[in-house]
Parts: sequence; C-alpha cells; structure tokens
Amino acid sequence: MKIKKAVIPAAGLGTRMLPITKSMPKEMLPIVDRPVIHYVVEEAIRAGIDDILIITGKGKRAIEDYFDRSFELEYYLRERGKLRELKQVKEIGEMVDIYYVRQKRPLGLGDAILHAEKHVNGEPFAVLLGDDIIIAKKPAIGQLMKVAEEKNTPVIGVEKIPWEKVNRYGIVKAKEIEEGLYRVEDLVEKPLPREAPSNIAIIGRYILPPEIFDALRETPPGKDGEIQLTDALRLLLKDRSLLAKEVEGKRYDVGDKVGFIIANVELGLLREDIRKRILEYLKRLNREN
Ligand code: G1P
Repeated sequence: MKIKKAVIPAAGLGTRMLPITKSMPKEMLPIVDRPVIHYVVEEAIRAGIDDILIITGKGKRAIEDYFDRSFELEYYLRERGKLRELKQVKEIGEMVDIYYVRQKRPLGLGDAILHAEKHVNGEPFAVLLGDDIIIAKKPAIGQLMKVAEEKNTPVIGVEKIPWEKVNRYGIVKAKEIEEGLYRVEDLVEKPLPREAPSNIAIIGRYILPPEIFDALRETPPGKDGEIQLTDALRLLLKDRSLLAKEVEGKRYDVGDKVGFIIANVELGLLREDIRKRILEYLKRLNREN
C-alpha cells in the first residue's frame, strides 16, 4: 500500500476557537510565526508526499495565498536586501503541489473527505487533520505509511489519553498485536467515559483505502448531526481489517485554547532564535507566581 497523496481537511468552522475563527480559518492561526497548516504540510512533505489536496470551506483565500508565490512581497524583500526573509517566503511558495477543493456546506469531516474522491483516483491516501501538530523525529504520517506498506492494511494513528478526555475523540476498541500496534475491533466517536471501550484515541492521522468513499456515502449523520469519518471506518471494518498505531512524538491539540497556547510556548522553545528569551520569561513568571 504505497502512499503518494495526502488530503488535509480544512473546512471546519473552528467553533472551539471562537471568536477568532469567525473571520479566520483555524488552520491559519499562528504557532510562533507560521500557521498551523504549515506544520501539517511540512509533516506530509517530510514523509515523502508530494501531492496534497486541501479541502477548504470558509477562509479559502488565506490558505491559498499562504502557499502561493507572492511576487510583490519577494520584490519588496529583495529591494531591501532582506535575503533571509526572502528565502523563507520563496520556500513556502515552492514547497509542494497543492490542490484545492471546496466543501460547500459544513456537513462534517466525513463529508469533507468525500470531496477528495476524484483527486485520489482509486489509490490509498493519507489524511492529516489540522487540529493536531505532531513533533516527531520521524514524521507521524510517515510512521503510519510504513505500517500500511508493510502490512498492506489501512491504519489510523492513536494515542492513549486520560479517561476523562475520551468524549473529545474517536475511540477504538482494539487488540494489541505488537508493541504499540493494534487490530481495531470497533470504533466510536466521542463516547461518554463510562461508555468508552478504551482510552485509545484516534489522533488526526489516517491511511485510508479508496473503499472509504463508498462507506462514507452509506454513513448516516452521527454525532452532532455530522457525517463522521469514525462511523465510516466502522462500516469499513465489516469487510476488511484496520490497524491502529501509537504514534511516536509529541502531539499538540491546537484546536483547543489551552493546547494552542502550550504549542506556541513549546514550539517557541524549539526555535534557537527565541528560545532564550522565552525561557527567561517563563522563569520570571514562575518566580512571581
Ligand atoms: C476528529 C475526529 C475524531 C478524532 C479527532 C482528532 O474530531 O472526528 O475521531 O479523534 O478529530 O483530532 P474533531 O476534533 O474534528 O471534532
């Protein structure tokens, strides 16, 4: 199962981050000095993917403009000798081939994925959700691609989470077959803690087979009246096996207010140019409190 294409749904309304998401897509919120979606695209590229489809909805322009070349800005920076900035800006415009398709109505993640059917053209594909930034030596999606290739089976990324948070995620019932690798037996979207089959949560990384599109078409609206990818995966399970892999790396839920702030601090600390100043500030804050 060789993966060449990735799909990034970016059509959600971002209600957890209102009011900023009233006029700005949540994928464009900045983590240090680049938008969330930059990190996600970078992860896919590091894993060897060179064809990315972004499913947009509201705020499409900002995302497209970000990944596009900006000749005006490049000219301005060149004229003023700001060569480091020029290099950065040019690199983003040349990162990878990005295609766009627009989801007209916000009918949920499952419906957004359905919009990728033509583009993926009968091949298995990767899905990366922009709510999760995963910092890892080996890109998270690449870890799943390796499993999908070796086992010739679709696979989803998972992480064990505290039980009280199971109602925020898709949760799997699964049997461990190797360390950190599970065979999925069932899935449920955002269950109550007392109804959850485990505390193994789906994080926003998937390797899906093209059969997911038929499953999505058969999936009725589920949690929150939306067509849920988790429910479609459940249908798919009737006909074929599905694996779940614990992804190695540090995950930030940037679709959540606190997760967003933590990501800004910690990813800031990973940056040589600003690390020292942030650390000094954190130490001072700690003393004062
Ligand atoms: C989506 C999926 C959910 C998954 C989560 C990971 O939910 O529906 O199964 O656990 O992403 O971030 P959302 O966060 O879009 O509500």
